[in-house]
Amino acid sequence: MALATLTALAQEKTLNASFVRDEDERPKVAYNEFSNEIPVISLAGIDEVDGRRAEICQKIVEACEDWGIFQVIDHGVDTKLISDMTRLAREFFALPPEEKLRFDMSGGKKGGFIVSSHLQGEAVQDWREIVTYFSYPMRTRDYSRWPDKPQGWIDVTKEYSDKLMGLACKLLEVLSEAMGLEKEALTNACVDMDQKVVVNYYPKCPQSDLTLGLKRHTDPGTITLLLQDQVGGLQATRDNGKTWITVQPVDGAFVVNLGDHGHYLSNGRFKNADHQAVVNSNCSRLSIATFQNPAPEATVYPLKIREGEKPILEQPITFAEMYRRKMSKDLELARLKKLAK
Ligand code: SIN
Ligand code: FE2
Repeated sequence: MALATLTALAQEKTLNASFVRDEDERPKVAYNEFSNEIPVISLAGIDEVDGRRAEICQKIVEACEDWGIFQVIDHGVDTKLISDMTRLAREFFALPPEEKLRFDMSGGKKGGFIVSSHLQGEAVQDWREIVTYFSYPMRTRDYSRWPDKPQGWIDVTKEYSDKLMGLACKLLEVLSEAMGLEKEALTNACVDMDQKVVVNYYPKCPQSDLTLGLKRHTDPGTITLLLQDQVGGLQATRDNGKTWITVQPVDGAFVVNLGDHGHYLSNGRFKNADHQAVVNSNCSRLSIATFQNPAPEATVYPLKIREGEKPILEQPITFAEMYRRKMSKDLELARLKKLAK
């Protein structure tokens, strides 16, 4: 399965058993039943210290406290760059399987193309194809793993990842200030910030109510900037996972998710957004997630513990260790679930 693409399976009438989720994990809300509860925040004027900055910061902070997820518009990333990036990504996924598989990253290769979450040894597969670029720090860039088709995609991706690094740093400044720290506090806590761009393609899916494009999770890093098309499928939770909502797609907006690292650094004040992606049988969907992560050796521990609060971590750990614990917990849960069947 790992070496095939989803193209053939998408033509079938019934869903291949390896994608069928347990009932409790299946989608509760449709991909296009949109909710506008997640705040949409305009960043116009964010650099004017005496102008709108305070108001914008306040909205961002409230969204992080309530949801750990919000959307930004007027963010300064060029519309043409965004449309080039999504157009080229769509063209890549439309290439014949053998062309995509030239960049196959199963077998531990860093960056390239892969089908679903097979790499992580999951019991049930996600209904998605992915291209991953390791884009920062610069020294980690291996252009031989960046798909060279469609023509021009490498250059557009370089520019896209630079612009998103700038936007992410701006948002981290706001969150640092909101914590009463100096502007650079969160970026400095990342040491040498990593950036990974993951382009998700969710083909049309037979029996989409039985599966997920991407199973429920929180992102491990500091923040994630997600660009999604107008199809819909990103879902967030309220009430500790009891209620799911489908995030309303907003043209040209980035969905900003706070990850586990951001959550720990704020001592739990900012939520790590619990989310998943659902698929549908009418059309394919594209999303581009840009993960801003700390360096593996960066320390994970609250930067500020407010009066009356206890630290949510017993002791400082490295980001690599935080990630290892998260993954082993996930694997253990999957194992127990399998045993219980
Ligand atoms: C992600 O969580 O990385 C992607 C979610 C989506 O495709 O909407
Ligand atoms: Fe995510």
